[in-house]
Amino acid sequence: MDIVDKFITTHSLTKAECIALFQLFDDENVMKKIREEAVRLQKKYYGTKVYARGLIEFTNYCKNNCYYCGIRRDNHHIKRYRLSEDDILSCCENGARLGFHTFVLQGGEDPWYTKDRMSHLIRRIKKEYPDCAITLSVGEKSQEEYLAWKEAGADRYLLRHETADESHYRSLHPESMSLSNRKKCLYELKEIGYQVGAGFMVGSPGQTWESLAKDLVFLQKLKPQMVGIGPFIPHHDTVFADKKAGSVDLTLKLLSVIRILLPKVLLPATTALGTLDPLGREKGFCAGANVVMPNLSPVENRKQYELYDNKICTGDEAAQCKNCLSRRVKNAGYELVWERGDYPEEKITKGAK
Ligand code: 5AD
Ligand code: FES
Repeated sequence: MDIVDKFITTHSLTKAECIALFQLFDDENVMKKIREEAVRLQKKYYGTKVYARGLIEFTNYCKNNCYYCGIRRDNHHIKRYRLSEDDILSCCENGARLGFHTFVLQGGEDPWYTKDRMSHLIRRIKKEYPDCAITLSVGEKSQEEYLAWKEAGADRYLLRHETADESHYRSLHPESMSLSNRKKCLYELKEIGYQVGAGFMVGSPGQTWESLAKDLVFLQKLKPQMVGIGPFIPHHDTVFADKKAGSVDLTLKLLSVIRILLPKVLLPATTALGTLDPLGREKGFCAGANVVMPNLSPVENRKQYELYDNKICTGDEAAQCKNCLSRRVKNAGYELVWERGDYPEEKITKGAK
């Protein structure tokens, strides 16, 4: 049995097999087979459904200084903002009216949003919208904070690992950060019972086939419920201003591979993919992605949450994005749905690894 058939049958790859598979990425027949298998699995578990998640970028203050990121601490050219609890509740109200059943609270690592402030916020949202899922995406925190927020009602947590390759991790982040702490956070989140999302950028500076192979091996070990990948896009006010953007084509291939590795995974067609290619998200669905995350943040703050240059939808009201996205999803042969869309089947039990 060749490596592609073995991968399709076993849903697993060693690091060496990943690298062997990457060498076949230019072979159109191989890629067709992988894409078709990815779509078969996507349709088996989710039909043609694409889940909408409402993204609320509630603070662009960040104590970190990641070399790739537009809201890094040392970027003094952006205006910092922080939505109040009431502002965030208004975003949720708008989102709920539009039909959303997941709110993703994303922000920089902003110390103002302490354990207690976040808990209070989560409780308020849950009280107002008990049938909605809350996804947090606020970085590396203590186990105590993760626990408190789960108890307050948070359901899911997104924390991209960014790269599972130690030396690559070092070249993307300052000394104060470490891959080991990031991984530790992800395992703690799982242990606490969150539905967890990991992920990485495609084509970030210094990324090699070896690093991508490590990413895939790490994902198989962690078994996250969600995986977010998107092309790296340079931001003009960062250390990587002059670096080349990642490839849409490679991102699409990796989306299909991840669908096969983790068949039931919730896999977004990311804004970065839609930024590099006007039809990027549509191509993402056709490669196996089944989630989109339109923006519910106030339009006046959108531009201030530019992680990379030319981010799309920064001028569009949520209602406008909703219509635009429904149409786009439909054109790709899928259907945009508004249900909570939890990870299917096996109950996420506390302590499950
Ligand atoms: N290009 C693409 N993605 C980026 N992110 C941060 N900066 C960039 C960039 N310049 C991604 C990171 C982060 C997520 C919120 O956005 O992977 O985890
Ligand atoms: Fe925002 Fe299309 S998704 S305008």
